[in-house]
Formats: sequence, C-alpha cells, structure tokens
Amino acid sequence: MGEQIKQVQALQIYDSRGNPTVECTVRLANGVVGTGLVPAGASVGRHEALELRDGDPHRLMGKSVYNALDNIEKIIAPAIRNLDVLDQKHVDQTMIDLDGTENKAKLGANAILAVSMATASAAAATKRIPLYDYLGDGVNRLLPLPQVQIFGGGAHSAWRTDVQDFLIIPLAATTYTQALEMIYNVYHTTASWLKKNGNNYGVADEGGFWPAFENHHQVLQTMVKCIEQAGYRPGDEIAIALDIAASELYDGKVYRLKLENRTLTSSELIRELVQWCKDYPIISLEDPLADIDQLGWEALYVELGDQIQLIGDDLFTTNCKRIKQGVEQSLANAVLVKPNQIGTVSETLEAIRYTQQVGWLPVISARSGETEDSFIAHLAVATNSGQIKVGSFSRSERMAKWNELLRIERCLKDRAKFVGKKIFQGVC
Ligand code: PGA
Ligand code: ZN
Repeated sequence: MGEQIKQVQALQIYDSRGNPTVECTVRLANGVVGTGLVPAGASVGRHEALELRDGDPHRLMGKSVYNALDNIEKIIAPAIRNLDVLDQKHVDQTMIDLDGTENKAKLGANAILAVSMATASAAAATKRIPLYDYLGDGVNRLLPLPQVQIFGGGAHSAWRTDVQDFLIIPLAATTYTQALEMIYNVYHTTASWLKKNGNNYGVADEGGFWPAFENHHQVLQTMVKCIEQAGYRPGDEIAIALDIAASELYDGKVYRLKLENRTLTSSELIRELVQWCKDYPIISLEDPLADIDQLGWEALYVELGDQIQLIGDDLFTTNCKRIKQGVEQSLANAVLVKPNQIGTVSETLEAIRYTQQVGWLPVISARSGETEDSFIAHLAVATNSGQIKVGSFSRSERMAKWNELLRIERCLKDRAKFVGKKIFQGVC
C-alpha cells in the first residue's frame, strides 16, 4: 500500500545549455520520493518523440515548458495517482494511452519521460536498492566501455567542423576506473597540445574542445598524435569513434561539408568514410549517413558492417519499430539509446532488449543539453549494455554520469564486470 503513487509535481529547471527543461518529483504514500530530469538534443532526429515547448516568443524565447508542467500536474497526475510505483509498465502505458498519439505530441515526451524516470527512481528508493539494481532485476553487473568526446563540432560548436563528435574509446582498459584514467590522459594531453600550438580553444556543448581546424584530416591527425603523446598505441589501446550526425549535412540530395567547401553525393561520402577508416584507427561510426538515406546505409553496411561498429542514432531514434526495420534491411549493427527520443523508461528498456536479442550493440547516450541527473549511468549497468556515450571529460553534467559509474563500480566491488573491447566480438 505504501508503494502507491500519491503526488506528482513538476518544475521548470534549466539544462546545461541554460535552456528550460522538465523535472518531475513522484511522492509515494510512504513518503519516499523519486525525481526525473529530462535532457534535450540539438541535432534532433525527425522521428523523435515530440519535446513540448510553449512557443511563446515573449517568454524564454519560446522555449519555456509550462504547458508540459501543466500536463504533468493536471492530466498525468490524476491518472497515475494510486497506481503501484513498482509497476513501471502500467504507469508508462497509462501515460501512452492518455497521450494517444504516435509521437507523444499531445502531452509532450518531456512531460511523460520526466514522470517515467521519477517513477523508476521512487520505486528503487522505496525498495532501498540502487536504481541499476532495480532496473536490472539485481543480476546485471556490467560497467560500460566509455565513448568520450575530445573535439566537438557540428550543431554543438557553431559548425567549427561538419562532423559532430570526435571521440575516443579506451580499448585496452581492463576496468572502468582504468578506462577513465586513459581518457583523462588523452583529454589533458590534447589541452596541452592545443595550448602549445597556439590553437586557442574553448569547449563545445558537450565539453569537447573546439579549436580552429582547416579540414577533417587535420582533426583526425591531431587525435592520433595526442593519443600517442599520452602514451598509448592508437587503434590497439585507444581507438577513434566518430558521430558524423549526417542528417544535419544532407539536403535530400547531397551532403555539404562546409569546412572543406565540398559537396558530396551519398556514394562519395561513403568512399570518403571508407578511406578514413583505412587511414585512421576508427572503430565506430554513428549516423555516417542521413536518416532518410537508406540506400546509403545499405551500401555502407556492405563495405564496413563486419569491420567496425555502425550506430544508428537519428536513423532509429530508440524506436523498436524502426530498429526492427533496420535489422530486416541490414542497415547497421548498433543502436544509440536516448530515453527522450522515445519518451518512457519501459519503451527504452524494450528497445535495448530487442537490440541485444538480435545481436546488435546498444550504446546508451546523453543529449547535448544535459542535466545533473545520472539516470543513464544506472540504465547502462542495469541493461548490461556495455557502452555509454555522455560527451566529453569536463563539465559537471557530463562528469555526473562518469562519476556515478565510479560509485556503482565501487558499490559492486568484485561483482563488477568489465569486458572492454570484447563487447565488439562477434559484431565487428
Ligand atoms: P544531440 O547530440 O543530443 O544534440 O542529438 C547527441 C548525438 O547526436 O549523439
Ligand atoms: Zn548522434
């Protein structure tokens, strides 16, 4: 009885870009509370669930979320009051039914997800177990291999580069703690290298550096140099991953690389990416092609699908139906998982489970506009996902996730598992 939902409150807070977003607090009959804080993207996929903003030009430049708060307190709260907090599926399905649209456009995915996350966190709290234990039924122990941004580009850095994320993966790490130490060494070696070379830098939305580069080769060469200077063998010990976020570069016909003043057809971009993978130690490509360029995805999969990880982000938008189509058409071998692309915890878990069932790799991901919430750190461990990507190695909204995983690792002690690069075995 004490585990019934009694009160649901919503608050407009601000994300890491200073934009308004939704926080929800769920209070149970026994007094236990849980909160959920929703992030926001900049390179938003066209098939994502809808983020409801008020659109009033006189208030927070149209970005306020007061309607979403109202939806939580006036529509969702009465419908889920007295429901069992431990029945996440029922709570989520109640909100999906209340909304009634395909993309959660009526109540807003930001409203629904905030309640869904707060429900899960209240449930874990009332059971007095960590969230990763609750979401993972207490059996999952796998700490994820991190993908960490070194340089930020695209929509996150006023288009300093066309490619959105230049990341590293510490393949040789044997524990999560060691993985972060390797990341630290490369991140700070890069900072020193930029200073020494007079390439003034700031940090992009996700905390990666954004110096001035002339072309993408220069970025990749700099990464290889900094990995070496930090004392690691590129490829063997630390590999490169790219999020091209190619939907942002595509106009329906061609891809525009503004930095290099070039326009490429789909097959030209594929040729270019295949060449990059030969010339540089790249192990993973995310959104190498636009979400609507399906023929491009098919062709790239034939070229690289058995050699590197090919992740669909905008392509799948954490949507099980879209992932299923991708599996049938052999478009990729991995799925980026962002809970706010789909809008409930249950549907996110379903997308992860399906991805794993078909032998693909789920990569749990933050958004470029984040909060101090570390829900996704728990989600990664709970689902044995094996990989996580939360931006760079700076800024507290990023460090909140990396640090939470350190706490989880310590909490698990010798029950913690870390398979590192073995996660890629059998996939690529
Ligand atoms: P977004 O960026 O949150 O702006 O979509 C993250 C990503 O593309 O992976
Ligand atoms: Zn992406």
